[in-house]
Amino acid sequence: MPQLVVKDLSINFGGITALVNVSFQVEKGEIFSIIGPNGAGKTTIFNCINRIYTPHRGTILFQDQDLLRYKPFEVSKLGIARAFQNIALFENMTVLENLLLGRHHRMKSGVMAGGIFWGKAKREELSHRKRVEEIIDFLEIEAYRYQIVKTLPYGIQKRVELARALCMDPFLLLLDEPVSGMNVEETEDTARFILDINEELGTTIVLVEHDMRVVMDVSDRICVLNFGEKIAEGRPQEIRNDPLVIRAYLGK
Ligand SMILES: Nc1ncnc2c1ncn2[C@@H]1O[C@H](COP(=O)(O)OP(=O)(O)OP(=O)(O)O)[C@@H](O)[C@H]1O
Ligand SMILES: [Mg+2]
Repeated sequence: MPQLVVKDLSINFGGITALVNVSFQVEKGEIFSIIGPNGAGKTTIFNCINRIYTPHRGTILFQDQDLLRYKPFEVSKLGIARAFQNIALFENMTVLENLLLGRHHRMKSGVMAGGIFWGKAKREELSHRKRVEEIIDFLEIEAYRYQIVKTLPYGIQKRVELARALCMDPFLLLLDEPVSGMNVEETEDTARFILDINEELGTTIVLVEHDMRVVMDVSDRICVLNFGEKIAEGRPQEIRNDPLVIRAYLGK
């Protein structure tokens, strides 16, 4: 059984058709990429999975559950986390505070509410802090944990955004352009982290990205959109040599 099933997804905004009958399936443990030109509908797919948008047609199943019956916060409770194309952090708070907030849906005792903890709440707070510290180590952002997010270089903010999503311990991670705006070194680091997350944590990843080196390096399979329609799906080697994909997106 695939972990994520997207079937016949269609949505339009006024006169703009953003997605037309898009279908694909993602297996548990896969890195599955969605590529295509600007405006092709990639982020719209994430917004439908996240339930920010409601498609006009189609179905989305996650671990056999019909996501269209859920609200956005319920989708994240099911274990789907997302790192946004536009960083979605609280920029006046520290890295650590952002990451603790990233775990809030897992907290039972309203940890961030006050300053006084005891008993169960205290123990829960400590276990969440421990997990957050593990993720900080995993993504090598120890040096920034007490810094205010908006003071950090953009590439580090992107990594904190990734860490925030990871703090939910998701089964499925949606990454929308995780290396956009990064320099070569930051891009290589992020590609390595994506592989590490997938291999060491077993997280299924759906990746939207314009950097074709990263996409071709990390993906198990790739789906290509053009003007809201799926025009190809396959292994990196197949996609790279697909004449339709070359014409619509990759160029020579
Ligand atoms: N809320 C909205 N209202 C109106 N139009 C929208 C909305 N969301 C998306 N669209 C339109 O749907 C189309 C697909 O947009 P989407 O953001 O999914 O593209 P994308 O593939 O993610 O592009 P990019 O690579 O530039 O991020 C575009 O024409 C966009 O303008
Ligand atoms: Mg987009």
